[in-house]
Amino acid sequence: MILGIETSCDETAAALVTAEGVIRSNIVSLQADLHARYGGVVPEVASRRHLELVVPVVREAFAEAGATLDDVERIAVTQGPGLIGALLVGMAAAKALAWSRRLPLAPVDHLRGHVASLYLEPDPIEPPFLCLLASGGHTLLLDVRGYADEQVLGTTLDDAAGEAFDKGARLLGLGYPGGRELDLLAAEGDPDAYEFPVARVPGLDFSFSGLKTALLYVTRELGEKELEARRADLAASYQRAIVRALVARVREAADVAKAARIAVVGGVAANSELRAALPDAALAPLPLCTDNAAMIASAGRFAPVLAYPSYLGIDAYASR
Ligand code: KG4
Ligand code: ZN
Repeated sequence: MILGIETSCDETAAALVTAEGVIRSNIVSLQADLHARYGGVVPEVASRRHLELVVPVVREAFAEAGATLDDVERIAVTQGPGLIGALLVGMAAAKALAWSRRLPLAPVDHLRGHVASLYLEPDPIEPPFLCLLASGGHTLLLDVRGYADEQVLGTTLDDAAGEAFDKGARLLGLGYPGGRELDLLAAEGDPDAYEFPVARVPGLDFSFSGLKTALLYVTRELGEKELEARRADLAASYQRAIVRALVARVREAADVAKAARIAVVGGVAANSELRAALPDAALAPLPLCTDNAAMIASAGRFAPVLAYPSYLGIDAYASR
């Protein structure tokens, strides 16, 4: 089995996955409550929490799989991109565990991890495909040609799609991170109530910051009472604008790349309207959209593997 460890942001996660891609356990400990009162993730707070949680979470992954370190043949860990202090905790834990058994270690790129959420049983897909990766930190259109071979066709020029959801949610008085709450609230609203324009930028890139500003102006103009009454309509209209932008660009990119298949991964892939708008696409399974370690273990099946003790000196990286 492969032990996966993920600590790039505010989820402490460990998972056991077989070489064939069967998930034996997938434990995710959320820190969201801890960061909610600050309205976002506080890096130093996240690192300290990872330090407390990483061993119990790994233990739980073993317990749930009914396995021990004896069953592990490789350890996969997120090396970056992400919060550097948070990444270092996972890296140190993975190195120590691998070192204790002279196991090989596979450092995994978090973004490749998201893509690898599509390679797990029971419904794995195979490259090539055109992939939209939309999360809290990234919005990428990837031409995925092989398990470790992809080309970036487009990205966001400002906010990530998940960030746009989170900032919109905040303006509407929802909690942090607000993507899921906004999705739920939008289900009760009228998506045609407001016309939110999304910037059309050249090429295959995205821009979401103007949309957030547009929502800000509308919420300012409405009185507090009126805002309360229109919140669901605002959520639905705002979500519609983001989803339209994502769907238009992913279809354009599929044409450019001459891709026969579209896939969607990352936290925003959990969005109900986006999923409904792309019925023909391969969608990451819901529990594997937001950050988890099963996807890291999955990517570890295809990543270059470092033999003991060469990995002891490697570092995490904050950005690609
Ligand atoms: O992939 P992820 O867990 O973390 C990063 O690597 O960034 O993505 C988290 C993002 C957050 O911005 C969150 O609000 C968003 O995914 N998200 C959603 C939904 N569920 C999570 N956005 C829209 N609709 C959802 N249902
Ligand atoms: Zn992520």
